[in-house]
Amino acid sequence: MVAPGALAYGRSDTAGALRRAIDTINAKLPLLGKIQCVIVTGDLTDHGTSEEYAHFAELMTPLALPWLAVPGNHDARGAMRAAFVAAPWMPEAGPIHWMRDFGPFAAIGLDTLREGAHHGELSRDGLEFLRASLARIGARPVVVCTHHPWMHSGIPAMDADNLRNGAEMIALLEDHPAPVRMLSGHVHRAVTGQIGRVVCQIAPATCHAVLTDHRAEEAPQLVLEPAAITVCRWLEAPAPTLVTDVIPSGSHSGPWPFTD
Ligand SMILES: [Fe+2]
Repeated sequence: MVAPGALAYGRSDTAGALRRAIDTINAKLPLLGKIQCVIVTGDLTDHGTSEEYAHFAELMTPLALPWLAVPGNHDARGAMRAAFVAAPWMPEAGPIHWMRDFGPFAAIGLDTLREGAHHGELSRDGLEFLRASLARIGARPVVVCTHHPWMHSGIPAMDADNLRNGAEMIALLEDHPAPVRMLSGHVHRAVTGQIGRVVCQIAPATCHAVLTDHRAEEAPQLVLEPAAITVCRWLEAPAPTLVTDVIPSGSHSGPWPFTD
């Protein structure tokens, strides 16, 4: 979010896009069954001001689900904590890490914000939080939510600002005795890969996308491609797993039955 009435980068109506994303989620809920929460993978605001957090909070009010968030490089930890101090996932002090137990699996949110920088870093505290959370989760699958992905997207301008010290984190995840997924933001594109045993997934943005440009030395560019949300659902058959479905924001023609 930027200030009310402003456009991000003079072009992107992020407030209108968030309203559309929330309307999409609320409209889909009757079709989706038991969806427990929304996870915001960072960059709630553009400049980390209290005005932008207030705008974000106001826009999130109609969302029919509780939500959790990790900070991104455009966030400011102090202002984010002040805005959402009453949220059950917000720690009283320090980095904004959390753990949420869903029963058959658990999610861990890790704060990768290094204030003043665009790239991500996981502090010693973050590694320790991850180590302790994995021990509590035991032999169940885990989803690690971060703003900065460690996997590259193939867009050099974005990959330069990824999580830079993720190797130690991935080593911990490799040792976890159950499936592990990383779910990140930052790149504004739906990108999937796998590093060792860890499935790495980047969520599309609810607002503008980053242009897919695999050439080196090119600056990142925003593009107003369709926004989307990622629906994650735990399925037990044919084998227990978390499946994700990327759903475009907004309303579209249909649905119709498959009949002539
Ligand atoms: Fe970011």
